This record gives sequence, structure tokens and C-alpha cells, in this order.
Amino acid sequence: MYIAHVDPASPDRRIIADAAELLRAGRLVAFPTETVYGLGANALDASAVEGIYRAKGRPTYNPLIVHVAERAFAREVVAVWTDAADALASRFWPGPLTLVLPKRANVPDNVTAGLPNVAVRVPSHPVAQALLAAVARPIAAPSANKSTEISPTTAAHVAKSLGAAVDMILDGGPTSVGIESTVVDLSTATPTLLRPGSISLPELEDLIGPIAIAGSRADASARPSPGMLDKHYAPNAALSVVASHDVVRTILDEREAGHRVGAIVIHADGAAANRPIVLPDDAAGYAARLYEALHSLDDSGCDVIVVEQVPDGPAWLGVADRLRRAAHRSPRG
Ligand code: TXA
Ligand code: MG
Repeated sequence: MYIAHVDPASPDRRIIADAAELLRAGRLVAFPTETVYGLGANALDASAVEGIYRAKGRPTYNPLIVHVAERAFAREVVAVWTDAADALASRFWPGPLTLVLPKRANVPDNVTAGLPNVAVRVPSHPVAQALLAAVARPIAAPSANKSTEISPTTAAHVAKSLGAAVDMILDGGPTSVGIESTVVDLSTATPTLLRPGSISLPELEDLIGPIAIAGSRADASARPSPGMLDKHYAPNAALSVVASHDVVRTILDEREAGHRVGAIVIHADGAAANRPIVLPDDAAGYAARLYEALHSLDDSGCDVIVVEQVPDGPAWLGVADRLRRAAHRSPRG
């Protein structure tokens, strides 16, 4: 595995050409997007795609997002492009929005885990843009981490998780959005939010009308995304989200119990923790730094992470979703 540093704003053309060559040859290249780092392979090459599942230890029922350089190229993998797709793509691409639509027959079955639909997005990160333009093929890219681990927001996170399983890592520094893209299924009668992200529900509904939330009781027809059924995005430490007024007491109780405690707070006092981290009080700023905080608390050997509850409201839906999933796992050992 080889890590190549690139200027995130204007990546070296020769390095991008090398990475594109590897992808065309069926190899795996990790690259930054504006959300998290992706583990890329040629989406039209089933055996290259197979390599992604192997490297991640990803269950074969969890489909991959296909990345293309611009909106027009989505048609290379999508069979039925709808008005809603057009409205959302015009407004949010390039950017952290993934659309699920009926797939074209040329898309290998393992990209979509056998489903009739394909997930597609146009990332805005200049390194992702340069790479997609150079390779001139759709690139399947899940987050560049082992299955169930926290997504990587730096090249070091990728190297730590995947090591030699990836042929090349393009290091374009930390990502800016920090949580994975918003995923909207447009193949259902009512569009369905499969995964909340930094683009909020009201922003989407403004353009295309009512959207069902997958897994909510209000709409039983809104089937969940296969990958969202799993425990996901979990640190090794046991994570619990507590109300602001319970933060200090919870930290002290955990320390009393002999645990090494990390804390992620906004307003509450985390100073009693072995490793307190304060994050911004706006959703975008918080999301940008959340995974870095979780990675660093794991790396510093915390057994327990106490997280102050985040505010309610549509802007926080993506962050609240990731915290809920991160809390969903038993402690290390
Ligand atoms: O921000 C992102 O989306 C990042 C960057 C690298 O683009 N990628 C990412 O991929 O988070 P991944 O594989 O970690 O998550 C993909 C999500 C999963 O929840 C998966 O189930 C869902 O998208 N998905 C992919 N294809 C789908 C399909 N055909 N139908 C329904 N859900 C799909
Ligand atoms: Mg992932």
C-alpha cells in the first residue's frame, strides 16, 4: 500500500493519473470525498468490486454507492432518471447526496447486492473530481474502513483500518463534511430517506415534496436500506449518549468503575474525563469533527465514551443517527 499526498485543492495530475491507472487495472484506491474517504474500484468490473467486499469484510447483501464525475454520467448506471432526480441533482450535485434509482443492466450485480436499484452520487471534493475525470469510468466506493468500523475522515484512518488491503491511498487531508452522504431512494412511490446526512430533510422536501423516513412507523412501505440494518459506525469503546445534566455524574461513575473515559461535549463540562473533547454547537461544525473525535478516543485507549446529547432539529438528524448507531454496540473485549 502506498500513500500519496496530494494538494486537496489542486491535486498533482501525475499522481491522479497513477491512481486512475490502478483503478482501470481492477485495483483498489482510497480517495477523499467531501464526506468521508471512499474505497474505490471500477464499478463496471465485477471482480474489482469483489475486491472491495473482501478488503472491507463487508457482507455481500450491503450494496455500494457508485460515484461519477458529473450529472450526465449518472445515466451510465441509471436506467430511469426521474424529475425528482433531476431536481435534486441540479441543486445538490456535486455534493453529499446519494440517489437510489433503477439500475442499468451493465451494472454488475455485486455493486447493488442483487437489488434492481443502484445508488449514485457526484462528489464535490476536487481530488474525487480529478480522479473520476481521469479514470473516465463510474467508481464504486463505500467508506474506506473495515465493515462496522467508524468511517475514515483522514488518510491515516484509512491506513489504520485497511492497511495492505488497499493498493493506494490519496491523502488529501481531512474531509470537510465529516459524515456520510444523505441517501434518498427515488424508486419508491414516495421518496424515502434511507440515511440522513448533512443535507436536511426540509431542504430535500422543498424541492420534491414529502419524503418518508426509512424504518419509521408512519410509512411501512418505506423499506430500510440493506446496510442500515446493521450495527454501524461503532467505535471500540462503549459509547453512551446522555442528557447535558447527566454528563458530569456519568463520567464520574465510569471513572469510579475503573474505566478510562472519553467525553464529547458541546456545552457540558467534560473535564472529569481522561480525554475530554469539546465540539462546536452547530451541526455542520460538529459533524465535521465527530469521527476524528471517535477515532482519537479509541486510539487513546478509552473503554467508555460519554457523549452529551445533541440538540433536536432537522440539521442534527445525521449526527443524531450516527451517535445512535455508535451507541449500539457492546464494549471492547
Ligand atoms: O458519503 C458517502 O456516501 C461515502 C463516500 C465514500 O461517498 N460512501 C459511503 O458508502 O458511505 P457506504 O458503502 O459506507 O454506505 C452506502 C450506503 C449503505 O447504507 C447502503 O446500504 C446504501 O448506501 N446503498 C447503496 N446502494 C444501495 C441501493 N442500491 N439501494 C439501497 N441502499 C443502497
Ligand atoms: Mg460505510
